[in-house]
Amino acid sequence: MTAPLRPGEAIMVQVALGARAYDIAIGRELLGSLGVRIKALRPGAKTAIITDATVAKLHLAATEAALKSAAIDSASIVVPPGEGSKSYATFETVCEAIIAARIERGDLIVALGGGVIGDLAGFAAASARRGLDFVQVPTTLLAQVDSSVGGKTGINSRHGKNLIGAFHQPILVVADTALLDTLPKREFRAGYAEVAKCGLLGDAAFFSWLEANWQDIFSGGPAREHAIAVCCRAKAAIVARDERETGERALLNLGHTFGHALEAGCGFSDRLLHGEAVALGMALAFEFSARKKLTAKSEAERALSHLAAVGLPTHLKDILGGVPGVDALMDLIAQDKKVKRGKLTFILVRGVGQAFIENNVDSAEVRAFLTDKLAER
Ligand SMILES: NC(=O)c1ccc[n+]([C@@H]2O[C@H](COP(=O)([O-])OP(=O)(O)OC[C@H]3O[C@@H](n4cnc5c(N)ncnc54)[C@H](O)[C@@H]3O)[C@@H](O)[C@H]2O)c1
Ligand SMILES: [Zn+2]
Repeated sequence: MTAPLRPGEAIMVQVALGARAYDIAIGRELLGSLGVRIKALRPGAKTAIITDATVAKLHLAATEAALKSAAIDSASIVVPPGEGSKSYATFETVCEAIIAARIERGDLIVALGGGVIGDLAGFAAASARRGLDFVQVPTTLLAQVDSSVGGKTGINSRHGKNLIGAFHQPILVVADTALLDTLPKREFRAGYAEVAKCGLLGDAAFFSWLEANWQDIFSGGPAREHAIAVCCRAKAAIVARDERETGERALLNLGHTFGHALEAGCGFSDRLLHGEAVALGMALAFEFSARKKLTAKSEAERALSHLAAVGLPTHLKDILGGVPGVDALMDLIAQDKKVKRGKLTFILVRGVGQAFIENNVDSAEVRAFLTDKLAER
């Protein structure tokens, strides 16, 4: 880890996508520099800030002030908080509000919020006026390490998560780690699942570092910026090689096939947050890999014990209330987009830091595994 940053100082990570390349600025108290950074990229652009009501109360005024200080005009569009806003109805509201605010080609959308806002605002930016540029100002840990980077945007369909959307890269990401100080502990912890994912899927040394330093990340020490930068660098490298997920990018879905099924099975409610579902899904992916003798049991135990140590769910019994039965879970898995000709695609592991894409998973084997797991509840 490098020396701690001073307030306002940034670690810069580049997403190398040719004409669509952009920077991610990571650091404490960076929000004040948002206007200056935008002005340098798009002099003269107006902005529409899209945010949710919770974030608006906490951080909208400071965001507006940061833009104003660089003489940038902004309109604000506030939607209800929560996964429910990744809907056709809210998408329509946001697009109409963008047009009503006279945001033209050459102007900018600013997504101020967590992954829900990033996905929704990014998709609205991709669609309104056939495509507007946008800036991500992620305010959750999950958004700072994962959803604000890489250009996946979208909303949910009644058939499943993220099924309507577009690839649309931001032109800038400003991740102010001080904004995470207002995040409820449970939300922070859920976002940490995607931090752990970064280690579990491809970086065993980072995972060891997390085992030793996770408390400092939670308490807002310098480990926080370092962890976010490591995750962004890793994701940026994968996205630069495989922007549209024709191959390697699928590794980032570690834990997500099981996770999305559980999330949908809980009705996208706050019984199971996205990151919690991912933690559970990664635990299942490790256990399933161990059962298939692709990895040692001890590797699965190591992954589960770290997730459990930070307080994330690792067993189906950790979900309060009912969980769908095996038929419903298998239906939800089959509806997930990672299915090709009846065979299931899963991200499996050969050990901590060694995930791989398996396109040929037999659904009967998954069914037997989940039946056993459900019986443990
Ligand atoms: N596009 C991608 O690549 C990608 C990757 C991972 C996840 N996602 C998506 O991200 C979403 C989950 O994101 P999330 O966990 O950030 O959820 P979220 O956006 O719903 O934020 C979680 C909660 O925290 C509140 N909040 C946000 N910032 C806050 C702050 N600084 N202080 C206090 N409260 C704050 C929000 O109002 C919300 O209630 C899911 O829809 C998931 O599908 C997308
Ligand atoms: Zn995720």
